[in-house]
Amino acid sequence: MLPARPLLVAAAVFLLLLPVHVAIVAAQGFRGFSYLLNCGAASPTTDSRGLRWDPDGDYVSAGTPGVVSLSGLINPTLATLRTFPLRYGAKFCYELPVDRNRRYLIRPTFFYGALFASSSAPPPPVFDLIVDGTFWTAVNTTDDALAGAASSYEGVFPASGRNMSFCLGVNPDYTDARPFISALQVIQLDDSVYNATDFPTSAMGLIARTKFGSTGGIERYPNDSFDRYWQPFPDDKHAVSSTQNVTSADFWNLPPPDVFNTAFIAEQDAPLVLQWPPVPLQNDSYYVALYFADTLPDNSRTFDVYINDYLFFKDLNVTSAGLSVFATQWILSGLTTIILKSASPSALPPLINAGEVFGLFPVGRLTYARDGCFCSTCPGEYKEKPSKYT
Ligand SMILES: *[C@@H]1O[C@H](CO)[C@@H](O)[C@H](O)[C@H]1NC(C)=O
Ligand SMILES: *[C@@H]1O[C@H](CO)[C@@H](O)[C@H](O)[C@H]1NC(C)=O
Ligand SMILES: *[C@@H]1O[C@H](CO)[C@@H](O)[C@H](O)[C@H]1NC(C)=O
Ligand SMILES: *[C@@H]1O[C@H](CO)[C@@H](O)[C@H](O)[C@H]1NC(C)=O
Ligand SMILES: *[C@@H]1O[C@H](CO)[C@@H](O)[C@H](O)[C@H]1NC(C)=O
Ligand SMILES: *[C@@H]1O[C@H](CO)[C@@H](O)[C@H](O)[C@H]1NC(C)=O
Ligand SMILES: *[C@@H]1O[C@H](CO)[C@@H](O)[C@H](O)[C@H]1NC(C)=O
Repeated sequence: MLPARPLLVAAAVFLLLLPVHVAIVAAQGFRGFSYLLNCGAASPTTDSRGLRWDPDGDYVSAGTPGVVSLSGLINPTLATLRTFPLRYGAKFCYELPVDRNRRYLIRPTFFYGALFASSSAPPPPVFDLIVDGTFWTAVNTTDDALAGAASSYEGVFPASGRNMSFCLGVNPDYTDARPFISALQVIQLDDSVYNATDFPTSAMGLIARTKFGSTGGIERYPNDSFDRYWQPFPDDKHAVSSTQNVTSADFWNLPPPDVFNTAFIAEQDAPLVLQWPPVPLQNDSYYVALYFADTLPDNSRTFDVYINDYLFFKDLNVTSAGLSVFATQWILSGLTTIILKSASPSALPPLINAGEVFGLFPVGRLTYARDGCFCSTCPGEYKEKPSKYT
C-alpha cells in the first residue's frame, strides 16, 4: 500500500556530501559505558571475536540463572539464561549505569534451546520489553525456536537518567510462562550516529540493516565499531564487489567501510528494483538510511531514488568517495519497493551498497506492566496509572 501523499511533505530528507579528509583511526573496542552481559552466567566468557561477556548478576536482582542443555553451541553466551517469575503485570529490570547525554544500542538475545525441543512442549512465552518505562516490543521467539535459532531485537534509545532500565514485562494478555533472556548488549553510540532522530523524544527499533550483494557472513564487530549487524542480501543477477577505500568516518552513521565493497548494480537501461526491507510494515513513520559508493575508482554516476513510487532523492550524484541519504519520518506501509533510475539512458547504471530501516516510537509510550517492580529500586516512571492492572 502506498503512503498518504500529504505525510510525505513532512518527511525530512538530508543529503550528506562527503568532504575528503584524513580518516580518524577507528578505536577498537567499545567506547564509554557499554555492556555485554551473559545472562545467568557465573563467570565471564570470551566469544570467538575476542569479546568478553560478563555475568549479569551485578545488574539485576530478580530471576533465576538457568542452563540450556544443548551441547555444541557455537555462541557461548547462549548456554545460560535467566528466567523471571510469572507474576502478571510485573516487570523485572536490569539497571545499567550510563552516560545520561548519550544514546545506546540495545540488543537482547533470547534462546529457548532444548526447552522447546519436544513437539509436545508448549511454545516459548511471549512477553514485553520496556526501556526506561517505554514499551519497546513484544518478544515472540516461537518461529526462531522451532528453527533452533536464537532471537535478537535491536533498538536505539537515549539515556534519560544515570541508570538505564531494561525490563522484561509479564503481560497478562499473552505471557503464559516465565520470561527469559540469554544475553544483553548495551553499547554507547557516537553522537553523530542516527543523529537526525530526535532522541530526547524518540527511540528506534531496527527492522532491517542490509549489505546488498553480499554472500558472506553477517558483518559486525570488529568491522562495525558498535557491533551493529549488517545482514547479507545476495542476488546473482545484480551483485558486484569492489575494493574501494571508503572512509567510514565521513559518514555520520559510521558504517563499516567494508559495506561499500559489495553492491547491487542495475542492468544497463533498466532501473534497479528492490523489494526491501523483506517484511511488510505497519502503516507508520520510519527512519530510512541508504548508502552508496561507486564501485569504480574516480568515477561517478547520477540517478533518482524512489521509495514506493515517491521520489526520495533526485539526481543523486554517487562517487567512489561514497554518500548516504536518509529520511527521519518516512511513511511506509505494507511491502516497500526501492527503485533506482538513471537520469539518462546512456548514463552508468545505478547502484546501492547498504541500507537501514528503523521504526520510530515516542519515548514515554506507556506499558501495561505494573510499576511494583522487582528491580533494586522502583523509579516510579509512570505518569499515569496503567489502565489494565492495579
Ligand atoms: C543503578 O544501577 C546499579 C547497577 O545495577 C544499581 O546498583 C543501583 O542501585 C542503580 N541505581 C538506581 C537509582 O536505580
Ligand atoms: C507468536 O508467534 C507465533 C508464530 O509466528 C504465532 O503463532 C503466535 O500467535 C504468536 N504469539 C503471540 C502471543 O503473538
Ligand atoms: C550530526 O552529526 C554531524 C557530525 O558531527 C553534524 O555535522 C550534524 O550537524 C549533526 N546533525 C544533527 C541534526 O545534529
Ligand atoms: C570485515 O572487513 C574486511 C575488510 O576490511 C573483510 O575482508 C571481511 O570480509 C569483513 N568481515 C565480514 C564478516 O564481512
Ligand atoms: C586503502 O587504504 C589503505 C590505507 O590508506 C592502503 O594501504 C590501501 O592500499 C588502500 N587500498 C586500495 C584498494 O586503494
Ligand atoms: C496510514 O496512516 C495515516 C495516518 O495515520 C492515514 O492517513 C493513511 O491513510 C494510512 N495509510 C494506509 C495505506 O493505511
Ligand atoms: C558528480 O560529482 C563528480 C565529482 O564531484 C563531478 O565530477 C561530476 O561532474 C558530478 N556529476 C553531476 C552530474 O553533477
